[in-house]
Amino acid sequence: MSLSTLSHPAAAAAAAGSGKSLSPAVPAGYLLRLPKTRPHVPAAVSAATAAVHADSAEDRVSALSQVSGVLGSQWGDEGKGKLVDVLAPRFDIVARCQGGANAGHTIYNAEGKKFALHLVPSGILHEGTLCVVGNGAVIHVPGFFGEIDGLESNGVRCDGRILVSDRAHLLFDLHQVVDGLREAELENSFIGTTKRGIGPCYSSKVTRNGLRVCDLRHMDTFGDKLDVLFKDAASRFQGFEYSKSMLKEEVERYKRFAERLEPFIADTVHVLNESIQQKKKILVEGGQATMLDIDFGTYPFVTSSSPSAGGICTGLGIAPRVVGDLIGVVKAYTSRVGSGPFPTELFGEEGDRLRKAGMEFGTTTGRPRRCGWLDVVALKYCCQINGFSSLNLTKLDVLSGMSEIKVGVSYNQADGQKLQSFPGDLDTLEQVQVNYEVLPGWQSDISSVRSYNELPQAARHYVERIEELVGVPVHYIGVGPGRDALIYK
Ligand code: GDP
Ligand code: IMO
Ligand code: MG
Repeated sequence: MSLSTLSHPAAAAAAAGSGKSLSPAVPAGYLLRLPKTRPHVPAAVSAATAAVHADSAEDRVSALSQVSGVLGSQWGDEGKGKLVDVLAPRFDIVARCQGGANAGHTIYNAEGKKFALHLVPSGILHEGTLCVVGNGAVIHVPGFFGEIDGLESNGVRCDGRILVSDRAHLLFDLHQVVDGLREAELENSFIGTTKRGIGPCYSSKVTRNGLRVCDLRHMDTFGDKLDVLFKDAASRFQGFEYSKSMLKEEVERYKRFAERLEPFIADTVHVLNESIQQKKKILVEGGQATMLDIDFGTYPFVTSSSPSAGGICTGLGIAPRVVGDLIGVVKAYTSRVGSGPFPTELFGEEGDRLRKAGMEFGTTTGRPRRCGWLDVVALKYCCQINGFSSLNLTKLDVLSGMSEIKVGVSYNQADGQKLQSFPGDLDTLEQVQVNYEVLPGWQSDISSVRSYNELPQAARHYVERIEELVGVPVHYIGVGPGRDALIYK
């Protein structure tokens, strides 16, 4: 298939290349020889070769697989956006595969200007990178345009640089209203959603009365389909107001959106698979995290999509065998927004201290995040599910100044028995007693350290103990929010 057969001009441009190519470390025909299982680097090996790694950070980033991913390994807000922004110049495409504007990914440009992204992939600040919003994501079109307008008014060109899947589901204002009504109904057991309409939109998708981006190309039937959705909500919720004039207004509004969205719409399944054939590099950006996964998270206190590895294939339409390195992003401690179990949570002054030091307030909702110690039981579970090839330990700088740091290493059940794995049953989880390991802290500010060997000994010990406990090497260490505040280990 030649480059010119790619239907979309932006896709063709990406396939034609932006000067980025597979590194020589990735031989031609690599795709055909992808190992069935990702190579697992034991922690001991990683520690022994730390010095070599530090020297070859560039090579290591270049050697990331043709299709790589950055996924959250806790309850979200680990700092996924920052790593994606840092790695994006080495990739042709950055793609979101699930979730919607419930995500809030904070990134900074070279001048230190802050951007909070929700649906637009975090590769957008790099001119040569094509951004793709895949079929597994849910799109609130007015919110999407609001985000684009915000980026454009800050000098970030979006035109021709973002593709939205024609198969992605449309998230309407009505889904957001229903999200609020559902939460109100739950009273004391509310989930604490972002109220962005995520659950109701994925419900429409699964119920099979949802509308997709491609429906915007059939405005003659759009109103009838939307009517079904409105009626569904009105019949379910007393507080849901609906009238024919509302439908008419919404259809008129969407006619205008349809026109504006048209240049962004593409068959992204085709685009991505063609790009893979053309040896282009794709970085998948996860939203949320495995502990919020609809299947693997602390159900029902989860989101409604699959933020773990499986969501990459279903959310982009690419085959499992093309997916290579997956980097798990993990905060040096833990945070969670919304309700649900959080075994290592800290309350009172201790929790406040972490929240303040880490500026733990939601990017999407501004809500204070609950904070606690790193939970290795949950992290190991995430590593099992996703098969991470490496970890990005973020916000290590936030732990500076603590006399000691605790790490949750195992759970005991109420009867004192040690649990073998992260429990699926919430009743069990809510009653676990966490066993902690206490590690020494460090007092100096590490936010300007850029080389692993210059970190205080106690900080290196903390990193290496995590590697040992989890069995996955830490290749990236965040010591501040800025692009450059990253140590390659
Ligand atoms: P995401 O949703 O996983 O992309 O993470 P968020 O952007 O919601 O939250 C992470 C927050 O921590 C943002 O405010 C980032 O700017 C900030 N951040 C990311 N990495 C680091 C780090 O290593 N140190 C510090 N101090 N802040 C960081
Ligand atoms: P990023 O991508 C942190 C949480 C909500 C709530 C639960 C369900 O920035 O890491 P939803 O609106 O999805 O139905 O809410 O999931 N949640 C997040 N928490 N970071 C996120 O995204 C989140 N997206 C959803 O707080 O507990
Ligand atoms: Mg976030």
